[in-house]
Amino acid sequence: MEDEEILPEALPAPMVVEFTEEEFETPEIDDLSSAEPRQVMELPRAEPTPDGRARVVTVMNQKGGVGKTTTVINIATHLALHGVRVLVVDCDQQGNCATGLGIDKSRVVHTTRTLFTEPENAPACRHATAIPGLHLIVGERSLVGIEQELSTMLGRERCLIDGLEPLLQHYDLVLLDTAPSLGLVTINALVASDAVLVPVQTEFFALEGVAMLASTIREVRRRLNPKLGFDGVMMTMHAPTLLNSQVKSQLMETFGDLMIEPPIRRNIKLAEAPSEGVPIHIHAPESNGGHDYRLLAQNLAERWGFELE
Ligand SMILES: Nc1ncnc2c1ncn2[C@@H]1O[C@H](COP(=O)(O)OP(=O)(O)OP(=O)(O)O)[C@@H](O)[C@H]1O
Ligand SMILES: [Mg+2]
Repeated sequence: MEDEEILPEALPAPMVVEFTEEEFETPEIDDLSSAEPRQVMELPRAEPTPDGRARVVTVMNQKGGVGKTTTVINIATHLALHGVRVLVVDCDQQGNCATGLGIDKSRVVHTTRTLFTEPENAPACRHATAIPGLHLIVGERSLVGIEQELSTMLGRERCLIDGLEPLLQHYDLVLLDTAPSLGLVTINALVASDAVLVPVQTEFFALEGVAMLASTIREVRRRLNPKLGFDGVMMTMHAPTLLNSQVKSQLMETFGDLMIEPPIRRNIKLAEAPSEGVPIHIHAPESNGGHDYRLLAQNLAERWGFELE
């Protein structure tokens, strides 16, 4: 064609670092350990739970596949097996909590959706799992439409508070699993929570992700829920590579005592367990994954003031 428009050259992008060939060389371990310590990122801390009701904790990271659901299932299981009354609420339409706990979500009538739309029916949304003391409110596909329904409602960020309210006095801990996005359902979870727990993968983008999440939490504190704070940041899918240990030390320096040990090692048994519909405590309790989640849950129990039986 004669009049074909010529696309102008793309603009040069402003680069953070101008790479030269040398800069691609793998650094020596000694170089890493002599790096300047990072600034500590001051994150708001959560307040203690008022007496007589459950602590409500949202497990959150807008990045997908970092181990949120695996963490929820395995912490909840460990604590429930040691006498803590735990309710898991799956606020993700993927519904992975049900699968991981062996529940057939296609046969469940009242789900997290009901909790949002009919708070008076909240008690009927709970399902007992194979783990004594661990109950689940199932998330599934019907949560997709709720984002739009909520958007036209007055007080749309506070629906989950109403749903959870009648349940709180019957549990010690309510864990909210969230989707890898920041829609109204996740905002509802944050508004109904005392605290957030953030699983991060020890990979390069981890710090950037948490910084973004921290600004969301500050915004929610300012506008909707002044008591919301961090209960901790924990590491998932940790492997013994140079990059993983480098990111681990960066996280430790940045978040200080908010980091919860131990890092959860990458372990195939943790990935297999959901296909059996059981937590790691039943699938492979002696695996590295079983060991790490046990210790992590014990450390969290201490922070949350639960005495394990
Ligand atoms: N420590 C681990 N080692 C190996 N595999 C793991 C580990 N933790 C989680 N996985 C697997 O990685 C995948 C993602 O984990 P998970 O579903 O818990 O992440 P998620 O953050 O909940 O994902 P989404 O954002 O999609 O909800 C799953 O297949 C899970 O079984
Ligand atoms: Mg998930």
